[in-house]
Amino acid sequence: MAREIRTVGVVGLGAMGAGIAQLCVEAGVDTVGREVSLELGGRARDRIAHFLTRKVEKGLIGEEARDAAVGRLSLTTDLADLAGCDLVIEAIVEDLAPKQELFASLERVCRPDAVLATNTSALSVTEIAAATSTPERVVGMHFFNPAPLMPLVEIIRAELSSDEAFETAYAFGEKLGKQPIRCHDTPGFVVNRVLIPLLNDCIRVLDEARVTAEDLDSGMKRGAGWPMGPCELVDLVGIDVHVHASDALYEKLREPRMAPPPRLVAMRNAGLLGRKSGRGFYTY
Ligand SMILES: NC(=O)c1ccc[n+]([C@@H]2O[C@H](COP(=O)([O-])OP(=O)(O)OC[C@H]3O[C@@H](n4cnc5c(N)ncnc54)[C@H](O)[C@@H]3O)[C@@H](O)[C@H]2O)c1
Repeated sequence: MAREIRTVGVVGLGAMGAGIAQLCVEAGVDTVGREVSLELGGRARDRIAHFLTRKVEKGLIGEEARDAAVGRLSLTTDLADLAGCDLVIEAIVEDLAPKQELFASLERVCRPDAVLATNTSALSVTEIAAATSTPERVVGMHFFNPAPLMPLVEIIRAELSSDEAFETAYAFGEKLGKQPIRCHDTPGFVVNRVLIPLLNDCIRVLDEARVTAEDLDSGMKRGAGWPMGPCELVDLVGIDVHVHASDALYEKLREPRMAPPPRLVAMRNAGLLGRKSGRGFYTY
């Protein structure tokens, strides 16, 4: 039932899109990357080449394999260049209006049998699909950051997704070397729906139990078998990203645990964003 994917389009080559494009070219799939400017596209290609060179240095791949992979990525600013794609994966800014606008344009440009996937974390795939007149070909493919390293991709069935589009996305996730899981389109899907309120609870416990971040992390690692403590994890994800995702889930579900704890909002407002800003719960 799954269709073979020979050419993929990736729209938005930021943190996630560049990682997804890297996975595609490493899997031997011709990939068209679309950015708003060729300069941004070029930067993404440089990042991909950099990561692949590190793999060469570690002896994981040969130089020819790296060069062939980079050669499979073509860059464009013109959506019309996605006309030949079997699958397009969208990874642009996390706002409904630009995503809906993009999907309406993709529908005009792409072949009628092309599958259109969104990498949204917190928006409704069904609402994005509703911007098209062919919502049956729209699904979610929710990769985790960093996409080349994290083994999971959630394959999300929107209200009107066809079995064929859904299974094509699942099979493509496997082709990329991932371990996909299937789920329906609900706020936060599976992992974020569980993890976001859990991390928020952990941060609230910091104040309630007057435990230090170090001891909380140690407690969850030694007592609950977590590979990483909650404060380390929020620092890694980015405190701004976590607050944004919490806000989005709270808006949809209205459960108090989903709302970002005031301590995290204050840290976000002060620019303490975790690893990426050099300071969060820890200093880097
Ligand atoms: N960062 C994460 O941890 C993570 C994890 C899973 C999913 N996501 C989702 O992936 C998507 C992208 O996130 P990101 O972190 O890579 O963002 P990012 O800001 O790093 O990249 C977004 C890219 O899209 C381009 N872009 C922005 N607006 C656009 C528009 N209107 N039209 C076309 N291109 C546009 C930008 O030039 C930028 O390169 C979001 O939907 C986000 O929720 C992010």
